Amino acid sequence: MSAIKFGLLGFGTIGTGVVRNFQRNAATIKKRLGSELELFKIADLDIETDRGVELKSGVLSADVEDVISNPEVDIVIELIGGYEPAKSFILKAIANGKHIVTANKALMAVHGQEIITAADQQGVSVLFEAAVGGGIPIISAIKENLCSNEFSSVLGILNGTCNFILTKMTEEGSDFAPVLQEAQDLGYAEADPTFDIEGVDTAHKIALLSALCFGTTVDFEQVYTEGISNIAAIDIQFAKQMGYKIKLLAIGKNLGDKIEVRVHPTMIPGSYQLAEVNGVFNAIRLNGDFVGPTLLYGSGAGMDATASAVMGDVMAISRDQLSGAQSRVPIMGYRADQIKSLPIKAMSEIVSHYYLRFTTVDQPGVLAKIAGCLGKHDISIQSMIQPEWHEADSIPIVLMTHTAKEIDVSRALTEIEALDIISEPTCLIRVEHDLD
Ligand code: HSE
Repeated sequence: MSAIKFGLLGFGTIGTGVVRNFQRNAATIKKRLGSELELFKIADLDIETDRGVELKSGVLSADVEDVISNPEVDIVIELIGGYEPAKSFILKAIANGKHIVTANKALMAVHGQEIITAADQQGVSVLFEAAVGGGIPIISAIKENLCSNEFSSVLGILNGTCNFILTKMTEEGSDFAPVLQEAQDLGYAEADPTFDIEGVDTAHKIALLSALCFGTTVDFEQVYTEGISNIAAIDIQFAKQMGYKIKLLAIGKNLGDKIEVRVHPTMIPGSYQLAEVNGVFNAIRLNGDFVGPTLLYGSGAGMDATASAVMGDVMAISRDQLSGAQSRVPIMGYRADQIKSLPIKAMSEIVSHYYLRFTTVDQPGVLAKIAGCLGKHDISIQSMIQPEWHEADSIPIVLMTHTAKEIDVSRALTEIEALDIISEPTCLIRVEHDLD
């Protein structure tokens, strides 16, 4: 068989990493595949900038059609990111019978159904290992190695930028803003970090993981998403005193007739393995009924780790082609006609422990008023900290609740915040310490 040819859309950081991986490990790739791979075309609007890699003449093109409509190309790697024009390019490539590899989590989380339907109709593969957890092989673990399991939960630290910021805030007692600036200076955070710090990137990833684990579509619009920009150094300190760490946790749970899919800052016990995942690293904890709790850890972003995931997908498709198997593993891990449409449980219905930090005046009866209001809404206090404080007109009262319903907590907070003893909005952080 002649060489399997692949083309790239987008020659940025990850594209350059893909070329480096392919060139440096060409011998290993050939030994594992038993056949030649050929980097046939790269399309990018910028064909002038030196990326520090050597390409054969004629490989680089400013015309996307040279990849997506080129009869020589078998596999198209999409590394443009975002919804458009990436989606149109992918759909056209599929219509032209190309297999697709993409790192585009936003596109797959929001428009995945349309792409998958088109690919199934054409009998081509769409692989997206690089979309979640960078180099961590989480998607193939769910779809292949652990595919005999029923998963009850998938929890992850899925954004290196947020984890870097929270780790620094924890280690140095710093506030959010200067640490974000440092992350930007180091190149970890984008110039516009909104998608990362407001949890959107994490939400895309947990939507995909939940769909893969639980065999359902996930309506991305229904995924509750709260980022880390309101986390204060003081809450990290109180969490520490109580034996917890604060992480931006992505949570997916299978409740049978419903799923929970949510992203928010979460306090987890310091003794948990997830609490030890620091800096830009990612980790995902799966619980399968036969494998049990399983943690995958590694580089969640970056040129080389992401390129490793992309090239793994290119080789998986190549192996299918070489053996004559058409799309051996279904795109979402379940046969398309077996995928459910489970609703996402409303946030008001979730049950959790809660960390609540009230900012109040220091007067007799304040605590009684807060506790009374919580009790009225069926919320039981598990522990409390009222530190010595020097600003008499504004003191923190920190409470940890037993499990409570979110709707009850939100009703109680509305009532408490209407009291004249409260001087600032209350800080609420959900607590996860009953991992299944
Ligand atoms: N921006 C992401 C992160 C990596 O900070 O982890 C790409 O999803």
